Amino acid sequence: MANVCPIPTDSYKVGFIGAGKMAESIARGVVKSGILPASRIRTAHSGSARRTAFESIGVTVFDNNSQVVEDSDVIIFSVKPQVVKNVVSQLKPILSEKQLLVSVAAGVKLKDLQEWAGQGRFIRVMPNTPSAVGEAATVITLGEKATTEDGELISQLFGAIGKVWKADEKLFDAVTGLRHVPSLMFLKLHLLSLNLMPISAPVTSCLLSPLGDLSS
Ligand SMILES: NC(=O)c1ccc[n+]([C@@H]2O[C@H](COP(=O)([O-])OP(=O)(O)OC[C@H]3O[C@@H](n4cnc5c(N)ncnc54)[C@H](OP(=O)(O)O)[C@@H]3O)[C@@H](O)[C@H]2O)c1
Repeated sequence: MANVCPIPTDSYKVGFIGAGKMAESIARGVVKSGILPASRIRTAHSGSARRTAFESIGVTVFDNNSQVVEDSDVIIFSVKPQVVKNVVSQLKPILSEKQLLVSVAAGVKLKDLQEWAGQGRFIRVMPNTPSAVGEAATVITLGEKATTEDGELISQLFGAIGKVWKADEKLFDAVTGLRHVPSLMFLKLHLLSLNLMPISAPVTSCLLSPLGDLSS
């Protein structure tokens, strides 16, 4: 990874492409936990309600996605899965390998993300629904050119909304299907009935701990 420029940990800026619920949960968690001041977070939206939601946290809200890319070191794609391809492809000409790219879009594979962006410094992240209350179980997987330090930085950021595990991408579909609490309960009961997990173990850690809990 000799050619990968480190993200400056003391001063990096995070930009959200897609100023929706997920981006807001992450931004609120990151600011509340003190991991980043709001002044180092940016997004873009044209609607007054979404602008106000972010401005109330202290986040800079631009008018368009290009301004977010030009002013961010870490870019988090937080649009709906069906528009990720268009959004990433449109921004490709102004993306740089000095930037770390992240996607939270459910079901969108790293291979496709890297192809649309034209670069492999990408991390795919799957947080679950309770992120809004700081209790998310998040899995991350690193693209071809994402460094260990990139993984640690993203783990720290998403640690602001819950626990973070590094996982092989092939487990993502299973984890995505387990995003809701009732599913987790049923799986836990099933594993207990098969004597495959201790009664006290959280089901997510039972599934993911062999790959490493990255939370601090
Ligand atoms: N919510 C969760 O609990 C959760 C959990 C895990 C993963 N995710 C993932 O997070 C992503 C976002 O989900 P969400 O729940 O936050 O959805 P959301 O609230 O609908 O947010 C998406 C935002 O993207 C904006 N947008 C649409 N097209 C855009 C474009 N071309 N450029 C910039 N912004 C654009 C939307 O604008 P408008 O306001 O105009 O529609 C909306 O504000 C999804 O891919 C989802 O799979 C969500």
